[in-house]
Amino acid sequence: MNNTTDNPPKKNLVKEILAWKKKREAVILAHVYQPGEIQDIADFTGDSLFLSQQAAKTKAKVIVFCGVLFMAETAFILSPEKIVLLPEIKAGCPLADTAPAEKVKNKIKELPEAVVISYVNSSATVKSLSDYCCTSANAVQIAQAIPSERDILFIPDKNLANFTAKRSKQKIIPWQGYCPAHNILTKEDIIKVKKLHPKALLLVHPECRPEVCNLADYIGSTRGIIEFTSNNTAKEYIIGTELGIFHPLKKNNPDKDFFPASENMVCRDMKLITLEKILCSLQNLEPRIIVPEEIRKKSLQALNRMIEIT
Ligand code: 13P
Repeated sequence: MNNTTDNPPKKNLVKEILAWKKKREAVILAHVYQPGEIQDIADFTGDSLFLSQQAAKTKAKVIVFCGVLFMAETAFILSPEKIVLLPEIKAGCPLADTAPAEKVKNKIKELPEAVVISYVNSSATVKSLSDYCCTSANAVQIAQAIPSERDILFIPDKNLANFTAKRSKQKIIPWQGYCPAHNILTKEDIIKVKKLHPKALLLVHPECRPEVCNLADYIGSTRGIIEFTSNNTAKEYIIGTELGIFHPLKKNNPDKDFFPASENMVCRDMKLITLEKILCSLQNLEPRIIVPEEIRKKSLQALNRMIEIT
């Protein structure tokens, strides 16, 4: 799992990070797709919704966001008085990149009557063009809050849009983006892994393809998946989301067995963050994430509408 405790150089590195964290009055937030050793040093780990709630309420002066760019931007939008650090500036989100702001603007012009919901996995500018934000944990709830006669333009994940349309029974027009780490999982992969572990329950993230979701015993956010395994008596689970989630799953449930639906479900961007980069970031207070004020104010409205509903 992680070798921080029996690896002296790593142990020293962690000590230094914690000392600098104290000096900077910082808080470390880590998404559950982060490498295990980073999740272990974080003050809070969790899904996008939980982390954005923590970013909004923390009293720390500095937020070190161990995740990807849209998450750090969200933290800054919610807490502009704080210094928000993303230890590796190249940690982006290929899903968010499928919805460039100019294309989104044009689509909104084509559909002037539609309510725009953007998944948090989108740029700050796309959030600023949206009526509501959502995460995978609350997409259905947000869609249900829209009057049923209105069309909803859902940006950028087509698979989450499909899942949300099915559950909320709302009229959803999906943007055609997808997350490569989730969309890679096929029905054939599931059939293969189910044959190997016939008793295991299948839990998948709603960013997976519809034909994969149709085979699942549970579909939910990373937090939903973690809670499901802790509250369920089943001993075996096949997990259809990014492999970083195995760290909290195994830690919370040492008596249960977890099998990846596919070994290919890896988000390369999440893995760009390292302990060394976190230390460097705390020492230099760089790379700093700042969203221009006009965009921040507009995207804050969409985020606040989401937070109010949930
Ligand atoms: P969660 O909100 O479920 O943690 O998902 C975040 C994400 O980026 C999925 O690809």
